[in-house]
Amino acid sequence: MFDAYGTLFDVYSVSMMAEQLFPGHGQSISVIWRDKQIEYTRLINSSTTAGGQSNAPFYKPFWDITRDALRYACAKVGVTLATDAEARLMNQYRALSAFPENKTVLETLKSLGVPTGILSNGDPGMLDVAIKSAGLDGLLDHVLSADSVKRFKTDPAVYALGPQALNVPVSDILFVSSNGWDALGATWYGYTTLWLNRQQLPFETLGDKPAYIATSLNDVQTIFQH
Ligand code: LAC
Repeated sequence: MFDAYGTLFDVYSVSMMAEQLFPGHGQSISVIWRDKQIEYTRLINSSTTAGGQSNAPFYKPFWDITRDALRYACAKVGVTLATDAEARLMNQYRALSAFPENKTVLETLKSLGVPTGILSNGDPGMLDVAIKSAGLDGLLDHVLSADSVKRFKTDPAVYALGPQALNVPVSDILFVSSNGWDALGATWYGYTTLWLNRQQLPFETLGDKPAYIATSLNDVQTIFQH
């Protein structure tokens, strides 16, 4: 079970475009954009509407949050985000390329009879376009979106979608994420986890560790070949 953004889909092209549009600010925009996007998912996860008068959880799809976070990032670095620049960056985010090894790894897992899927905060519309534009169509058995429970990772309701779809104990599922916080949340939930440390980062220091740490998706197929 794979996380999507940063794990299967390479968000680097977005920072390249941000740099072209706002020279000298591309890196800052993309970092703030991503951090704010994830921060907003957590803010929403822990909030209700109507000033606490209602127990109805607040929710906004990941696509909308992604746009909100982009607007924040541009305001933070002090550049004006015109409508056409926003549309270009959002379109780029919608159609990201896959990391080069993904296709072969997913094909190998298929040939080994290992069921595969995505478990992502992305809403179904986003994931559908991302999978098609990355050429991964037909290679994933399950596309599970947090949108179906109107929560975001690391809410247990989202992680529960994996064992529900695969109908196996959660510890029998290898959950793969390049996001340390996601690998940790999934570990806490009970998955066997692989943290894909593509960026040479330290792991979260809250205590629990993932079962595996790797630098490329190729290590996923190695686990199933043994
Ligand atoms: C996802 C984000 C968190 O795909 O990367 O869920």
